[in-house]
Amino acid sequence: MKKIYLHPLPIRIWHWVNATGFILLILTGVQIRYSNIIGLFSFETAVTIHSWTGFILLANYFIWVVYYLVTLNIKIYIPPLHHPVEFAKKALRQAKFYGLGIMVGDENPHHSTPEHKFNPMQQVSYLMIMALLIPVQIITGLFLWDPKLFSPVINFIGGIQIVSLIHVLLWIFFSAFIIVHFYLATLGHTPMAHIIAMFTGYEEEHEEHGHEEGHAHGGEGPGHGGHGEEEHAHS
Ligand code: HEM
Repeated sequence: MKKIYLHPLPIRIWHWVNATGFILLILTGVQIRYSNIIGLFSFETAVTIHSWTGFILLANYFIWVVYYLVTLNIKIYIPPLHHPVEFAKKALRQAKFYGLGIMVGDENPHHSTPEHKFNPMQQVSYLMIMALLIPVQIITGLFLWDPKLFSPVINFIGGIQIVSLIHVLLWIFFSAFIIVHFYLATLGHTPMAHIIAMFTGYEEEHEEHGHEEGHAHGGEGPGHGGHGEEEHAHS
């Protein structure tokens, strides 16, 4: 068994601060939206926690941006769209694996290396989330936090209801995302393997898994087959 260093420290810090913050934002968001039927916190407390957490995640987002831009590692997020057909085929193969193959013990068609960390489905979804949906959620959150300050832009967009609608739709999206993302994170060789790796930085590679280029066994989970030939070692 060999360990492969997949998650650099700044990304691990960003990720767990972000995950904790998102859970808090989702919960306090429910409280703000349904303050008439849920009594987890008072409305005011929920708004205060929600705003503070939002600002912390805004600052935290810059860890992700700065790390990936300064190191130029942002390329791991960019789908190879100059080969659209090949990319679409790989994405389809990955979707088939998640939808069926994983249930019947097929091999994961993707194996992660630091340079090719994400499978095509992860690339598209993570890029959309990090480059578009989180910024939109942050910006609409800022508008709702001080509508007066941002009133010219809010009016330009179509009013505070539109801003609120976008913010709430994304809240629903992120709530669903966390459930799917958590499920996929438990598909390592043990249910906690990928999650522990996101704390330690190191993903374990297991010898019994496939050596073939681009193939890993089903148990390896969401894009963390993590075993190019050159990285193999036996325990
Ligand atoms: C219960 C909460 C969460 C758990 C247990 C969790 C778990 C994980 C694990 C194990 C990984 C590494 C495997 C992989 O790359 O797919 C990962 C990566 C990632 N997660 Fe999460 N996650 C959580 C919440 C979130 C949230 C709320 C977001 C964003 C809204 C998020 C966005 C990401 C992204 C973008 C990556 C790739 C990071 C990188 O390597 O650049 N996660 N997560």
